[in-house]
Amino acid sequence: MVADLDASLAEAVAASVAAAGGSAIGLPVDVQDDASVSSLIAETVARMGRIDLLSNNVASPVRNEPGGDGDIVEIPLDAWEDAMRINLRGMLLACRHAIPHMVAAGGGAIVNMSSANSFTGERRSAYNVSKTAVNGLTRHIAARWGKDGIRANAVAPGLTLTDMARATLGPERIAQMLAGLPATRLAEPEDIAAVVAFLLSDDAAYVQGQVLVVDGGGAIT
Ligand SMILES: NC(=O)c1ccc[n+]([C@@H]2O[C@H](COP(=O)([O-])OP(=O)(O)OC[C@H]3O[C@@H](n4cnc5c(N)ncnc54)[C@H](O)[C@@H]3O)[C@@H](O)[C@H]2O)c1
Repeated sequence: MVADLDASLAEAVAASVAAAGGSAIGLPVDVQDDASVSSLIAETVARMGRIDLLSNNVASPVRNEPGGDGDIVEIPLDAWEDAMRINLRGMLLACRHAIPHMVAAGGGAIVNMSSANSFTGERRSAYNVSKTAVNGLTRHIAARWGKDGIRANAVAPGLTLTDMARATLGPERIAQMLAGLPATRLAEPEDIAAVVAFLLSDDAAYVQGQVLVVDGGGAIT
């Protein structure tokens, strides 16, 4: 099951899974709305029979711009609350509705998308604080439901060249970012997806409650 606020995006991802020989359904969800998340999970169980794996990837579109994200003095409180409601509460809702089904199925694995920024004090306070809280949420789930066979981990990417990042940064800024990294290139979405797939797989059977930084070594330089 693939879900997004924009149903056409979810359907496009489901279609690409089908084109690669798999099977997936794309549905709309608004993670701000408890009833929407609850019915997505119920529909997943109704159509797939069980839930074994959950990957939470959502993030709010609040940007670092006037009226958007910024330091804690300048950020409008509604921008702060938007980020917390989508980035943190949205993941909480998905986990909270999925966990009882995972327990019933004998266990499962959860990966929450954090950010390398969760370890920094960079200017986008709402984004960074919400992602730091996602790390805490992940450790809570790992500690609370580990004995029920549930593993929970987070992935903390550095800058990743999604279409949006490529378009907004431009080649000069991208070259600048790369110059500060002990890597030969910036991350592609596939680099991050591979780590999510690893953490969801049995290869990561003994990885529990971790936040795995995937930033080409940015944090060590
Ligand atoms: N791209 C990067 O450089 C980078 C770096 C570190 C972490 N991340 C994290 O990776 C994840 C994906 O990032 P991205 O760059 O692909 O961002 P993106 O904005 O392209 O993707 C976020 C998705 O969340 C969906 N969404 C927004 N609000 C929603 C809601 N209320 N309900 C359901 N879906 C909603 C959007 O429609 C969008 O498809 C995010 O959690 C982001 O914080 C990205």
